[in-house]
Amino acid sequence: MTDVLLDFPRSWGLTIMEPVADTGLAKLWKVRTPDGAFAALKLYHKSDRGNEAPAAQLLSRWQGRGVVEVFAEAGNAVLMEWLDGPPLGDVARGGDADRACCSLAEAARRLHAEPRINPTGLKDLNAVFAPMFRCAFSSNCPKSLKNDMTRAIGLARSLLDSQAIQTPLHGDLHHDNVIQTQQGLKVIDAKGYLGDPAFELANALRHPKGLPDLVRKPEQMVLCNALYAKAMKVQPKRLAQWAAAKCALSIFWRSGGTITNDDEADLLALFLRAADQ
Ligand SMILES: Nc1ncnc2c1ncn2[C@@H]1O[C@H](COP(=O)(O)OP(=O)(O)O)[C@@H](O)[C@H]1O
Ligand SMILES: [Mg+2]
Repeated sequence: MTDVLLDFPRSWGLTIMEPVADTGLAKLWKVRTPDGAFAALKLYHKSDRGNEAPAAQLLSRWQGRGVVEVFAEAGNAVLMEWLDGPPLGDVARGGDADRACCSLAEAARRLHAEPRINPTGLKDLNAVFAPMFRCAFSSNCPKSLKNDMTRAIGLARSLLDSQAIQTPLHGDLHHDNVIQTQQGLKVIDAKGYLGDPAFELANALRHPKGLPDLVRKPEQMVLCNALYAKAMKVQPKRLAQWAAAKCALSIFWRSGGTITNDDEADLLALFLRAADQ
């Protein structure tokens, strides 16, 4: 492991144990602190931490509400509590999707309990979606996908323009970002957005990853939409609309700016249909 650049303050006195994940934006390491306890060290490739700069701020303000404890941060590095246990994604992939979805809703309810935390420094949802309004299509993009993307982009515009309240949002709240530990559910990997609470669990309708048939099942969609809308105290219809808008944004991100095709083209069509109900 000596060939990897491990750039973090020496004063933290960490012993590197093993690599845990390479997220694209960052690498995650299991480490030992001077008192012998395990911790998680997230090292971002860029000093602005990609799009996750406000994340640690948000997690710090949400301490005590079932989020990972942040011990220290400096430059590219964030030192966090080590969490032992399966992510809710594994619980679902292991066969208990109902429990995983209920736990996800419960984790969201805790984060968003009163009092609302200070929103300073968080990224406005308008800024998150802005690049998608310059979306282009390649000449061989299927007509149905182009039509659906165009509709979803219009939907995103009207949702952004009609946000009644703007609240601090995790921004990437889905099954694989909640770990079930012996001390209870712990949320990780926040983006730190500010916007409509109906956005918060909309993206979770695309999850759990690795269960594409379940995610596309009409009963599952209806069930989770109702569960997540209740947890966030928002209208199910608006949550379904955000699901279509966010699915389109993910397709746009994956495309690099010009859309040709995408594995979630069919899911976008389903979300648009649900948004019309
Ligand atoms: N504090 C932590 N303790 C233990 N494992 C962690 C911790 N934070 C993240 N992980 C593991 O690393 C994986 C990737 O981390 P995450 O921050 O979710 O990055 P990303 O989803 O962007 O790849 C997680 O799915 C989880 O398995
Ligand atoms: Mg994650």
